[in-house]
Amino acid sequence: MKNKIAFIGAGKMATAIVKGLIRDNVYSPDSILCTCGNDSTGTLLANETGITFTDTIEPYLKNINILVLACKPQQIGQIDLTSFQDNDITADLTIISILAGTTIDRLRMYFKNSKYIIRTMPNTPGQIGFGSTAFASSVDLDKKTLSHLENILGSLGSIYQVKESEMDAITALSGSGPAYVFEFISALSQGGISVGLDPIIAKKLAIETIIGSAKLLEESGHESEDLRDAVTSKGGTTEVALKVLGSGGFKNLVIEAIQKAKDHSLKLSKS
Ligand SMILES: NC(=O)c1ccc[n+]([C@@H]2O[C@H](COP(=O)([O-])OP(=O)(O)OC[C@H]3O[C@@H](n4cnc5c(N)ncnc54)[C@H](OP(=O)(O)O)[C@@H]3O)[C@@H](O)[C@H]2O)c1
Repeated sequence: MKNKIAFIGAGKMATAIVKGLIRDNVYSPDSILCTCGNDSTGTLLANETGITFTDTIEPYLKNINILVLACKPQQIGQIDLTSFQDNDITADLTIISILAGTTIDRLRMYFKNSKYIIRTMPNTPGQIGFGSTAFASSVDLDKKTLSHLENILGSLGSIYQVKESEMDAITALSGSGPAYVFEFISALSQGGISVGLDPIIAKKLAIETIIGSAKLLEESGHESEDLRDAVTSKGGTTEVALKVLGSGGFKNLVIEAIQKAKDHSLKLSKS
């Protein structure tokens, strides 16, 4: 019976998905397989979670209905995927790719027979179930596949169905976004230390300020500009700080960073 999910790659993102699938009872460990490259990520993941590690997925093909591509984009070309190209057994195999910048057309070269090839862009908070994952398919998904996909990607956090043409923009915002937030937290912490705070307290305050503000924004239903203005009294300290950020072009700089990241993602997906 075809009821197993297999992962090509067992690194950070694969580990996040596997742990989420087991935690949310979407798959039991004995229904999950993984393979890896030359390091020991596959055996480590198998030892940690109870899933099966295999050198090659080929012998299991007749039992697998979902294949997750979770290696680095440049590694996919190094894997022997011949059996996935010519084998009728792969016609009802759904491919879920998390490879950044790898188009569905490109993946179609490796998986000619597969009806569904789904391109996704998760982000690292998915490791703790607080991720945002966008997914795109070039064909309409049937109800069963869509619901199954939602369960799989839902184990990482929120999910959004988008057009494939939006993937580069999504990569620039939520895919790379955690790095921007970490950079901002680092700046907040260093700012706190520079005005005399203990480094541990400064780091905690920086993290909690980000989490608390984001939760307040989400739960209040207000716009971020309204909540910003609510903290900014005329002649107060916040106003002074915001003026410094404004004169340094903070907001425009973030917008420009996202635009450049999108352009770069587009360039990578064409190379
Ligand atoms: N990290 C992010 O923020 C993020 C966000 C969105 C999407 N992505 C995408 O997620 C994918 C994985 O990223 P990651 O951060 O999880 O990378 P990673 O931790 O470096 O994991 C890469 C995995 O691929 C395996 N691998 C290498 N060569 C292989 C081969 N020939 N056959 C099978 N497996 C092979 C590696 O195995 P060994 O190391 O054991 O050799 C490792 O398990 C990437 O395509 C990336 O674009 C990442």
